[in-house]
Amino acid sequence: MNYKLSHKTKSTFSNQLFFVKKVADLKQFGLSASKIKLVKENLAKLKLNRWHFNDADGLTLIVVEEDDLEGNRKNAHECFNVLNNNKMEEVHFATNGGDDTVFSFLEGLLLSTYTFEKYKSEKSNQHLHVQVGAGCSKEVTNVVQALVSATMDARDLVNEPHSYLNATNYSKEIKRIGKRDGFKVEVFNKKKIESLKMGGVLAVNKGSVQPPTFNILEWKPKKATNKQPIVLVGKGVVYDTGGLSLKPTPNSMDIMKCDMGGSAAVVGALSAISKLQLPVHVIGLIPATDNRPGLDAVAPGDVITMYSGKTVEVLNTDAEGRLILADALHYAKKYKPQLVIDLATLTGAAVAAIGPQGIVTMGNASEEVKNKLKNSGEAVYERLVEFPMWKEYGEMLKSEVADIKNLGGPYAGAITAGKFLEHFVDYPWMHMDIAGAAYLRTPDSYRGKNGTGVAVRLLFNFLQNEATASRK
Ligand code: BES
Ligand code: ZN
Ligand code: ZN
Repeated sequence: MNYKLSHKTKSTFSNQLFFVKKVADLKQFGLSASKIKLVKENLAKLKLNRWHFNDADGLTLIVVEEDDLEGNRKNAHECFNVLNNNKMEEVHFATNGGDDTVFSFLEGLLLSTYTFEKYKSEKSNQHLHVQVGAGCSKEVTNVVQALVSATMDARDLVNEPHSYLNATNYSKEIKRIGKRDGFKVEVFNKKKIESLKMGGVLAVNKGSVQPPTFNILEWKPKKATNKQPIVLVGKGVVYDTGGLSLKPTPNSMDIMKCDMGGSAAVVGALSAISKLQLPVHVIGLIPATDNRPGLDAVAPGDVITMYSGKTVEVLNTDAEGRLILADALHYAKKYKPQLVIDLATLTGAAVAAIGPQGIVTMGNASEEVKNKLKNSGEAVYERLVEFPMWKEYGEMLKSEVADIKNLGGPYAGAITAGKFLEHFVDYPWMHMDIAGAAYLRTPDSYRGKNGTGVAVRLLFNFLQNEATASRK
């Protein structure tokens, strides 16, 4: 479904959506005293902050703002359902809420319009036109629009099957988005990756017919407020069969086109910040390949030499994400970054631990940075839970034949994956395991179903705060 936002102070549509601080405020939007009374009664009866009625004038939706932003997003999703069920494609939006509140409502409403119909012969041809009126600034709608479309781009990339989205076509898509939004994209091909000796990327790619790529995205505004860049590293496994250690869990491969979800969040974040010209210097690094059990595939027991020079005993070829991320994390050193954040659908253990409700995080960054990220997570409701990186977990990665092995022990799988990555960083760093939240098999409000685009809004919120904080 397509959506459109336009500005018009006075409604020209028959359907109205009023998003107000309290019911009595409806008076200033022209609702009669008797209607307001009816609204009050129904809200009390339903114990909800939203209600709608249909009369000769059209559909009227009323929402009273919640104490929390997530409540507004969810109410917005319910409004979308009402409009959609009534086959209404136009609605006028009027509000007296504050900027953050209105922002959360509009993002919930617009994100709910997402559909992935590329491969359907018959398209739904539906659209939603939201005419934004009183009380909503152009600034708010501009940012909402950029962020919603960046999140939808990330969802599209995740939902795109591997039959199209091999590493080469992924790079083409990243270039297209970069050109459209104004960030720079450089792509290393297999030859270049070989000449750099990126052993982690090459090992994962060995069983594949398709060549890997290494993508460098950059948004470098003239008046950047940070001296050293923030680097975002995203796992770009365009399809994960597990390699020779073929995925053991029934049906788990059905959704493994989602294994580039971390990198999709990086693309989405770069899209939003460049569209909105945020004054922060950000670099995105995306190693991309599929993970296949082809004839020459890396085998359990093999020892490989990483881009950093470290040797790794590969004991499970399904633990491939850490191998390609490690090369990208080593590459990030050349930027002398202020901070590196990696994002990855890295472990089933992260899914087992917290499910789809949040993101598992760990790293060596300062408490200040960790708190900023956690606060962003709460604000956008892509919540972070920090796992410990105690040294004992690192001992589980000891190898008899190489510097380390790519497999931990029977427990704490999300942590040992993080401990593996820690070997390749020498700068402030945070790791985000988004395996639970990146792809949903059952729908969840405005997050929808399938690719969620998780972490685009988290990264954007964090970077926006960085841009404004250092401007002072
Ligand atoms: N891509 C998977 C992790 C994953 C699981 C993503 C579920 C999304 C949903 C990853 O490459 C993987 O297979 N990890 C293994 C590592 C193990 C072999 C150490 C896992 O978690 O089972
Ligand atoms: Zn895997
Ligand atoms: Zn994987």
